[in-house]
Amino acid sequence: MKEILIAPSILSADFVNLKSEIEKVEKAGADWLHVDVMDGRFVPNITIGIPVVESIRKITKMPLDVHLMIVEPLKYVNDFADAGSDIITVHIEACNNNAEETITAIKQRKIMAGISIKPDTPVKHIEHLLKKVDLVQIMTVEPGFGGQKFMGNCLEKAREVRGFAQKHGLELHIETDGGINPDTAKLSIEAGVNVLVAGSYVYKANDVKKAIDSLKPLTYS
Ligand code: DX5
Ligand code: ZN
Repeated sequence: MKEILIAPSILSADFVNLKSEIEKVEKAGADWLHVDVMDGRFVPNITIGIPVVESIRKITKMPLDVHLMIVEPLKYVNDFADAGSDIITVHIEACNNNAEETITAIKQRKIMAGISIKPDTPVKHIEHLLKKVDLVQIMTVEPGFGGQKFMGNCLEKAREVRGFAQKHGLELHIETDGGINPDTAKLSIEAGVNVLVAGSYVYKANDVKKAIDSLKPLTYS
């Protein structure tokens, strides 16, 4: 079993105090920092872009897990790599027939490459990429906004990907993103997930350390 990693999403942070919001989760034991980039085209929301990633890079040692919810991600892979991303995840639904090229472009930058699928996208749409990526992200909400309800039926896809990885001896990270709390974290891990993205659950908590700890398996009842 791979180590369980917690990746708080700054989407739910207080942007006025972004530096202290990031330091807070780092001090509380977060493993990765999840950065949600939205363009108002692939998803209906617009969030942050390259200069913000560049600034965040300067104030944290946590690996930056950059989730691109943008059309034509290939165009921006180098910019986000230059900005200091450690992992770049793109959506299969956003890559017009150049997903493989996009993954190759990310790998050429010697960082981790992730592929994401929305709740309605089946695993077979990314099967040809599973031996090339480092991470598979299973969206457990419709991408675009924090604070939505976890869609448990997506976990079947995590099981399928973990099964494929085991069969082929692949060291894949599998990440669930959306609606993560201690209950859905547990369900995710049971389905073979090892990276948990949590936005509102962590950032809306009074005690951030307690919130992060409660997502880890040792604390499950
Ligand atoms: C949604 C984003 C998520 C979001 C998760 O499109 O990809 O990373 O921040 O937020 P919560 O944990 O509140 O569902
Ligand atoms: Zn995300």
